[in-house]
Amino acid sequence: MEGLFITFEGPDGGGKTTQIHKAAVALRAQGYEVVESREPGGTSLAEEVRQLVLSAELPLTNTTQTLLFLAARSEHVDKLLRPAVRAGKIVLCDRFCDSTFVYQGLANGLKLEELSELRQLNAAATEGFMPALTLVLDGRPEVLAKRRDARGVKDRFEIKGLEFQQALRNGFLTLAQAEPTRFAVINAEGSEDEVHAAIMKAILAKLGK
Ligand code: TMP
Repeated sequence: MEGLFITFEGPDGGGKTTQIHKAAVALRAQGYEVVESREPGGTSLAEEVRQLVLSAELPLTNTTQTLLFLAARSEHVDKLLRPAVRAGKIVLCDRFCDSTFVYQGLANGLKLEELSELRQLNAAATEGFMPALTLVLDGRPEVLAKRRDARGVKDRFEIKGLEFQQALRNGFLTLAQAEPTRFAVINAEGSEDEVHAAIMKAILAKLGK
């Protein structure tokens, strides 16, 4: 039986990492085999690309950033994500293609109808491997910023400030609105348990439970 590929997206500070882990624990308790991963990352080469691309010190053009994220993704899909889904596992991934469409696209000045080039590049890198469900952990940037700021060293994107975070939020909501069958928007301003309950409801609905 095919597994299920689920991605978690949204601006920084939405609690994705904590929520992915809580969902994994809950799904395992129901007997599912679950793999947790993240982007950029998930393989040793992709983790090295992560260091490069997220360092706020190294100047990179938007195109170079995009190609580095896609190189890491290609490797990740091939070595980890697709084999796990083919083996019947549920894969929970912290960010995937929609981060590229928002960070390198919509929040970088492109309109929804101008994403076709990014979508094509992504399709080539992944050979069309796409999530069955994408959960956007959404909230007001000023609320999520408090959690983000508590985390210490900031990466290339986190240093850009509230206006950029607002553009990210709008970008993810625009994608979700355009593709409502793949996306579910989760209110990430609630308590950890409330957010977890909303996530489990969306996942179990996708699993037909
Ligand atoms: P995070 O794992 O802490 O969320 O950091 C990943 C950062 O990389 C985050 O700021 C979003 C950014 N990113 C992109 O800009 N494009 C992408 O395609 C991906 C996967 C991440």
